[in-house]
Amino acid sequence: METILKTYNLTKRYGAIKVVENVNMNIKKGEIYGFLGRNGAGKTTTLRMIMGLISPTKGQYELFGKNMGDRQVLGRIGAIIETSGFYPNLTAMENLDIHRRLMGVPNTEYIKETLDVVGLTHFDIKKKKVKKYSLGMKQRLGLARALLHKPELLILDEPTNGLDPVGIKEMRETLLELNKKKEITILISSHILGEIQQLATKIGIIHKGKLIEEIDYKNFQKKNRHYINLKVNNDKKAVTILEKFVNVKDYEVTEPNSIRIYDMLDKSNEVAKKMISEGVEVYEVNVMKDTLEDYFVKLTAGGQDV
Ligand SMILES: Nc1ncnc2c1ncn2[C@@H]1O[C@H](COP(=O)(O)OP(=O)(O)OP(=O)(O)O)[C@@H](O)[C@H]1O
Ligand SMILES: [Mg+2]
Repeated sequence: METILKTYNLTKRYGAIKVVENVNMNIKKGEIYGFLGRNGAGKTTTLRMIMGLISPTKGQYELFGKNMGDRQVLGRIGAIIETSGFYPNLTAMENLDIHRRLMGVPNTEYIKETLDVVGLTHFDIKKKKVKKYSLGMKQRLGLARALLHKPELLILDEPTNGLDPVGIKEMRETLLELNKKKEITILISSHILGEIQQLATKIGIIHKGKLIEEIDYKNFQKKNRHYINLKVNNDKKAVTILEKFVNVKDYEVTEPNSIRIYDMLDKSNEVAKKMISEGVEVYEVNVMKDTLEDYFVKLTAGGQDV
């Protein structure tokens, strides 16, 4: 699969403080990359570097296989980094028309289409000036502007900030549709795991400036499964017993003599008894109920350098 973005030890320092440190991100075509981190973790700073709005102190990146600084690629990216930047005394259409001309998009029809895609045509937008927009409407307009020139990559910094629950759901559906139907690759940041969970195909977790995890969503999800944590003296024998006597197929030997059983959760005692009666020593048996939220909190616990 084509690589859309690759960063190499991307680092930003303000004075003595490393705000982003040696970040190595990989985004492939068609992915929805959820960039997750607590307030102050370094999300916006990273995205601003990728957009060329600020320069890295160290490190570099490639977009569409082109080295950092190649301005040609900007036309292939649509971004919302901040909500502002609209002319308050103009309407949505007038604002988008300016952007359209700036980006060299010949087709004026596309403005209406795009406003429709982001759900702004539900609102009274004909005459309303942008200064009278609610935050949620501005977020939608921001997305419209990001989409107007038909980008291949969307970079969205917390695009659901200020949206109500219905707005969040609509935004999510819009993004999923853009990803599926128009094959737009998406890099979206958030500090809310739940939001990212419903969208992302890959997750990057940034904490205190460091990318501490980058993982396919499928694998991330596995961390959410409840399981029996079984520690024994002989994993080979234990596995044979599991398959033969307990009829369990859904298990994993995660470390020597450490087995996760994703089945029989309410019968952990029986599993342990069977092990013992077949001559396996059981050192530990307990049911683990980590949710992804627990996992995220555990990973990113500890003080923030905000
Ligand atoms: N221009 C700057 N000068 C000094 N420090 C800065 C500057 N910009 C950002 N920082 C610091 O860098 C850190 C990361 O900020 P950043 O805005 O990237 O975080 P974030 O992950 O986007 O957080 P949030 O979820 O609150 O948006 C913060 O500690 C912030 O105070
Ligand atoms: Mg931010």
